[in-house]
Amino acid sequence: MKIFNPLADQPDNPLTRAIKEGYTPLAFAGLFSLVSNLLYLALPIYTFQIYGRVMTSYSVPTLLVITFGVLLAFVISSVIDDYRARVMVNFGVVMDQRVSGRVFSALFDTVIRGNPAARSQALRDLDGFRQMLTGPAFGTFFDLPWMPVFMLVLFIIDPIIGVVTIVGAGLLFGIALLQDRATRPALREANEAALRSYAFTDAALRNGEVVRAMGMIEPLGARWASFRAITMERSAAASERASVLSNISKFTRQAIQVLIIAIGAYLVVMGKIHSGLLFANMILAARALQPIDRLVGSWDALTNGYRSYERLNALFGDYKPSKPLTTLPKPLGQLSVEGVNFAPVGATRFVLQGISLKIEPGEMLGVIGPSGAGKSSLARLMVGIWQANSGHVRLDGADVYTWDRTDFGRHVGYLPQDTELFSGSIRDNIARFRSDVDDEQVVRAAQVAGVHQLILRLPNGYDTELGETGHVLSAGQRQRVG
Ligand SMILES: Nc1ncnc2c1ncn2[C@@H]1O[C@H](COP(=O)(O)OP(=O)(O)OP(=O)(O)O)[C@@H](O)[C@H]1O
Ligand SMILES: [Mg+2]
Repeated sequence: MKIFNPLADQPDNPLTRAIKEGYTPLAFAGLFSLVSNLLYLALPIYTFQIYGRVMTSYSVPTLLVITFGVLLAFVISSVIDDYRARVMVNFGVVMDQRVSGRVFSALFDTVIRGNPAARSQALRDLDGFRQMLTGPAFGTFFDLPWMPVFMLVLFIIDPIIGVVTIVGAGLLFGIALLQDRATRPALREANEAALRSYAFTDAALRNGEVVRAMGMIEPLGARWASFRAITMERSAAASERASVLSNISKFTRQAIQVLIIAIGAYLVVMGKIHSGLLFANMILAARALQPIDRLVGSWDALTNGYRSYERLNALFGDYKPSKPLTTLPKPLGQLSVEGVNFAPVGATRFVLQGISLKIEPGEMLGVIGPSGAGKSSLARLMVGIWQANSGHVRLDGADVYTWDRTDFGRHVGYLPQDTELFSGSIRDNIARFRSDVDDEQVVRAAQVAGVHQLILRLPNGYDTELGETGHVLSAGQRQRVG
């Protein structure tokens, strides 16, 4: 079992750096927890005073004073808890601001370099991790260190009561671990099957026309149902096991509470402790065991958050942020491919081998070859999407792969085989979503590409919105705008 430990040796990346900057707010949150937990001791002291003083002296003024005192302690404790929550939420926001931009870049980098599985998961991971840090689950860690304090107080009242609480805490913790062991594999399998069924549905929906035209709905439905069945069966198995263990855990907790009262009563009968301590014991024992309950309750949230953290770390591990590079002069357009060998990620053989060619400014090159020959791969190498395994592609002598991307994009156009436009207006798409492009430039570009008339005939001309809810261009229109 791994517990999230921000202090452990971590690789240096934007995420771990942002967490390290959070040590000060974390320390403050810890300090608040100290005060809040100490104030909680007011309750057992209060009950003890009631039994020890008020009940014997029949003094109403005393009752009023100590009641007021304990209420005040609880008000302060609530305010402090509220501050603790705010400190954590603030930390989450700051961390998000520091990291989210990097996650966005790293995500693109990883997907392009051949891990399409990463997809938008990374952005959800960042949300998941932040919510874990700022949510109630993480607050458990601030209360855990105070368990021994409450146990110590119980020990001081009487060693036997202390021992019973400690043994009980150990038992509850053991059951929680057992529960995690028993359910985790089944839950993971259920989760994986669910993810596969979602991915399968996504792909089927994307090809909805094909499905309808060729009547494929039934076989696809059957395949989908088979994923579903695994999810159902595995999560039912996990729930059954969890239910048995959580009932055992509930019984253990109740048994501890009864034992504490029984031992307390016995000690009172034997004249070893004051009867007023009976309730104080109960309250202290309940409080000492509470963090375990909360830890078990928030286990899922914590492990999910930790997994998000691991995935983000892995994402940053593969990501080399581009260094700010010297801006090169506008290229004239001399392109040279020098002894390029290339194999896509995961491939066992080269798709391109020993490719060398030179194109002078003004020249055009058409590449012809059978499907899968590597034409698109060559195009990707030429615009620096992928890096050759050996050899270089140079534009005006400079390697295109290491060229600053923003700067490179100013000089180069690239239209992939499958043209997709971005969600936004036609104008935005032509301007590549840059804000420093004026209307005149957009129209001129459209005129050069011969689509000005086509765009004018669209419902809102250049301002026609594309995307999920927008206007649908035909494949040919899309290519021409692209
Ligand atoms: N993203 C990718 N990841 C892994 N392998 C890829 C990827 N894209 C292409 N390949 C592999 O590289 C080889 C060349 O593909 P490429 O797309 O360059 O062919 P092509 O010549 O453009 O074919 P077509 O005429 O069908 O477009 C193929 O064997 C393909 O399996
Ligand atoms: Mg191709």
